[in-house]
Amino acid sequence: MKRPIAYVAATGRGIPSTVFANADFAKIGIETTDEWIVERTGIKQRHIAKSESATDLAAAAARDAMQKVHVQPGELDMIVVATASPDRLLPSAAVDLQAALGASRAAAFDVGAACSGFIYGSTVAEGMMALGNVETCLVVGVEKLSAITDWKDRSTCVLFGDGAGAAVLKRSKQHKGILSTYVRSDGTLGDLLCRPSGGAVRPFSTEVLDDRSSFIRMNGREVFKHAVRSMSDAAARALDGAKLTGKDIDLMIPHQANIRIIEATAKHANIPMDKVYVNVDRYGNTSAASIPIALDEALETGRIGDGSIVLLVAFGAGFTWGAMVIRF
Ligand code: ACO
Repeated sequence: MKRPIAYVAATGRGIPSTVFANADFAKIGIETTDEWIVERTGIKQRHIAKSESATDLAAAAARDAMQKVHVQPGELDMIVVATASPDRLLPSAAVDLQAALGASRAAAFDVGAACSGFIYGSTVAEGMMALGNVETCLVVGVEKLSAITDWKDRSTCVLFGDGAGAAVLKRSKQHKGILSTYVRSDGTLGDLLCRPSGGAVRPFSTEVLDDRSSFIRMNGREVFKHAVRSMSDAAARALDGAKLTGKDIDLMIPHQANIRIIEATAKHANIPMDKVYVNVDRYGNTSAASIPIALDEALETGRIGDGSIVLLVAFGAGFTWGAMVIRF
């Protein structure tokens, strides 16, 4: 089937009101400095959901996107939620969002691809549109990572933040839309970034609570190495798929994990940093939410306009990685 099949009709975001700055770690007894965090990651602050649930954030992002294009909840054929930190483990975050929105006609399900989830979810949505089953789809990336972060582990707790981003995808009728996608994963590297306990193999117990193994554990150096390699590869493959080069890209939106990973990926893709969207300084790493939040900000501030060609690229636990080229 000839692309584009799906286009981004609108985006929105749901951001928790509480800001947690680097200086605030001292107040909770974490031995770190603003200088260490900024130099290693580029992060200055993150938003933390105190009173908001993941569903609240997802619903705020979804409503923001839907009202921009006057899509009513009953018009949604499908809801795809990408998350690694749902409010509860069963049922899915997507059905909780469906209930919150009152989107009674939609098929709703989650996609588990960690930080690459928005690209995976949008790829699945495009596939369903190609089958002819779906006209209007909501794809949401949402995280409440503060709930699964070990707030005693300084090597991880400084990295993550909470938030949600949403996109309404519709069947493309003109030349606008997704031009190419590329998704890959390597499960042999799963242990490098994971939550060792809390699942069916090692369920919650007092032992798990004591050894804190239900929280995110990460080998930062290894993740860093693979992230740069995989994101660069994914960007190149998606550009090839769209028969474009880095020079054709008006804006690259990389997963916002770390400014050094972003800079290295941009260099490999031959895209100058003034064409790269960066907000990791304000949000930290919001995993599946990072790309749709950035996309929404870029549209709002005019960094993306009519005709812009945008490259999305992500990497996350799994490992999973992927990229997507979209014409707006
Ligand atoms: N403050 C101060 N010192 C710290 C902190 C902290 N918050 N955290 C670790 N350190 C110390 C360590 O203890 C270590 O000290 P030592 O040398 O005395 O043992 C030293 O800093 C260096 O630690 P490293 O872990 O080697 O530091 P590195 O330069 O690798 O930076 C970082 C760590 C920022 C995590 C980096 O490895 C990184 O960015 N990795 C990628 C992580 C990432 O982006 N993950 C997410 C991608 S996938 C996804 O989004 C789910």
